[in-house]
This record gives sequence, structure tokens and C-alpha cells, in this order.
Amino acid sequence: METTFDNFTLIDHPLIKRDVTILRNQSTGTEIFRAALHRISNILAVEISRGFNVSETAVETPLEQTTGYKLVQEIVLVPVLRAGLGMVSGFLEIIPDAKAGHIGLQRDEVTLKPVEYYYKTPRNIANSIVILLDPMLATGGSSSEAIRYLKTRGARNLVFACLVAAPEGIEKLLKDHPDIKIFGAALDRKLNNKGYILPGLGDAGDRTFGTL
Ligand code: PRP
Ligand code: URA
Repeated sequence: METTFDNFTLIDHPLIKRDVTILRNQSTGTEIFRAALHRISNILAVEISRGFNVSETAVETPLEQTTGYKLVQEIVLVPVLRAGLGMVSGFLEIIPDAKAGHIGLQRDEVTLKPVEYYYKTPRNIANSIVILLDPMLATGGSSSEAIRYLKTRGARNLVFACLVAAPEGIEKLLKDHPDIKIFGAALDRKLNNKGYILPGLGDAGDRTFGTL
């Protein structure tokens, strides 16, 4: 694992490198794209969950009692609609008892500012680890706004999991929210003048749902 910005961790893993290449390839169709997104989300979930705390709990094996462990905090996954939905199944496979909320945000293609259209999370998230899921961290506008909403609803322990991050987005997000941790599968070069990540993978929502 290698860290390039404070609070940004690039998950450096051979299988992630292989799968990010599949996602980047413009010839990759929806089915293969979703499967690669799912596998990367599995690995991100494993790496992010290294930071979870556990407490001891007694467990009866068929032979005797011994010490087991349980997670101390509830985990809440919050995908940003639409593209974040593609990461949910991969995270749930690793953290099956996680709860899930949803935030609907759409980037206005002209102003590049996020516009909210849906919000629903479990009622009390103050003591939970809240993991925001969105494959793309471009200008950082959407994820910064999503984190702002989550904080107004009480979230205090926030992690952002993305696939592809642009340096501009990481800088904005950590400037707006220096208390969060970001995990990414790829750190790309820069944004183009339409706010797309270079080299990137195009529009993650369209590629996940076949709406190109
Ligand atoms: C994409 C992506 C992020 C956002 C990133 O969503 O999934 O939410 O753009 O860009 P930003 O960092 O500049 O805000 P989009 O607005 O295209 O919506 P969609 O997922 O419904 O396609
Ligand atoms: N949103 C995407 O889906 N892709 C980008 O490159 C930037 C924002």
C-alpha cells in the first residue's frame, strides 16, 4: 500500500491493477464492467475494514468456550446514485451485516456542481462507520456535498471509497473535510476541461448501467 496525499490511500494490488485496466478499456461491455467493479469493491472493502475496531466476545466451539471477536461499530454503506450502486454488492459480500443509505446527486454538466435529488440513511449514524461509495472522484463536488449531508445527519466517522481519483478532487475533498479518509484504486493524472478524469474510464454511471 502506498500513500501519496495525507488521508488518501491508494490500494496498490495486482488484481486491482488488472481490473482497473478492464474498466478503462472502452471496448469493455456492461456485464464485464460490472463484474470488474464488483471484484475491486471486494478488495477495497477488505482493505478499508482493516481499520475497524473489534471487541472480545465469548464463543462456544463444539469442544469448549474460547474468545471470539465482534465489530464494535455498525457499518453503514452510502452509495452516491447512480454509479456508487455498482460498488454496493462487492462491499456487502465482505461486510454482509452493513446497513445501507442512499444519496442521489447528479453533476450539472454545465456548472459541474452537484444537485441533490434523494437522501435516505439509517436514522442514527453518529456512532457508525459511514463508508461513502462512488467510483469517480473528479472535481470532488459530489463527494464533498455528500459528506456535508452525512455530517448534518450526525455522521462523525467517515470514509470515502472510490475507484479512480483525480488530484484536483482529492485536494478539494480533503480541504473541505480534513477529518475523512479516502481510499482509491487508481490515482489519475488530471481533469479535462469538461471535468472528466484523464485517463479515467469515461462516465461511470453510463458504463455501469449501459446508458451510453
Ligand atoms: C459522476 C460520479 C460522481 C461524480 C463525480 O456522477 O459517479 O458522482 O460524477 O464528479 P465530481 O467529483 O466532479 O462531482 P454523475 O453526476 O455523472 O451522475 P450518475 O452517476 O447518475 O451518472
Ligand atoms: N464522472 C464520471 O463518471 N467520470 C468522470 O471522468 C468524471 C466524473
